[in-house]
Amino acid sequence: MIDSHTKLCCIIGNPAKHSLSPQMHNVGYEALGLNFVFLAFQSMNIQIALAGLREINARGIAVTIPHKVEALKFVDKIDEAAGNIGATNTILNDNGILTAINTDWISAIRALKKVTDLKGKKCAVLGAGGAARAIIYGLIKEGAQVNIFNRTVEHAKILTEHFPANGFHSLEQTDIISDCDIIINTTSVGMTPDMEKSPIPAKCILPRHVVFDIVYTPLMTKLLKDAKNVGAKIITGEKMLLYGGLKQFELFTGKKAPFTQMKQALQRALQNKEIN
Ligand code: ATR
Repeated sequence: MIDSHTKLCCIIGNPAKHSLSPQMHNVGYEALGLNFVFLAFQSMNIQIALAGLREINARGIAVTIPHKVEALKFVDKIDEAAGNIGATNTILNDNGILTAINTDWISAIRALKKVTDLKGKKCAVLGAGGAARAIIYGLIKEGAQVNIFNRTVEHAKILTEHFPANGFHSLEQTDIISDCDIIINTTSVGMTPDMEKSPIPAKCILPRHVVFDIVYTPLMTKLLKDAKNVGAKIITGEKMLLYGGLKQFELFTGKKAPFTQMKQALQRALQNKEIN
């Protein structure tokens, strides 16, 4: 029951109403009988939002687009990963001390490691934005070899100056993509309403590839359909959402997250999203 002792966790974004985090976290709190609540707040100003949440002693703050980079300016501590990636998706409030964390790389690596080893594997990362930075950070930590492919090659080049990646290329360099073992899409290409689009042509996907798409609307993107058609292993975007939610739950509550209940809550939320 919500009362005057209830601990507040939330997601801050603009927009925020599409977030699936409240469903996942609140089901988790209920499953463990924790006096927590998780809400979604739309805010255009992350500085004011964080000051308010600090003042009212909110326990945990998930940060989403467009605040992931800006939020780093308004916290007291930054963990190594968030600092290196240059973005945070999770802020922990320990009695007024805000610590920025990045769990995006942890959830992506967990999703990948379910189906493949990463050490020494050649990875094609499609995209060079914030999501790409988090995933590249994780891949390099795991000992993978990273090639970055992007529409704007200059943006990929900038990433290779920050991370020890193997090379940067345009999305048209499909022979180099084919030569990789793992293909990861971090761009928004294929997201509704452009569901017929893929960042790369189907012909460069081979049966031996592992293909991971972080887009989750729809779950079966054109890229993943093409990969499935040739018999490649696929990983859908909801894995990253789920593992990210579980990690945040554990950071906010200090308890082991109830995996089955949170997974089912996410699946129900995704189904409702498809219907609406
Ligand atoms: P995020 O933080 O979610 O990664 P972002 O920082 O805006 O979002 O990055 C978006 C990525 O998707 C970029 O790599 C972008 O390519 P550019 O650097 O050329 O802008 C890529 N992207 C977005 N729309 C695209 C499209 N229609 N075709 C190819 N790449 C696209």
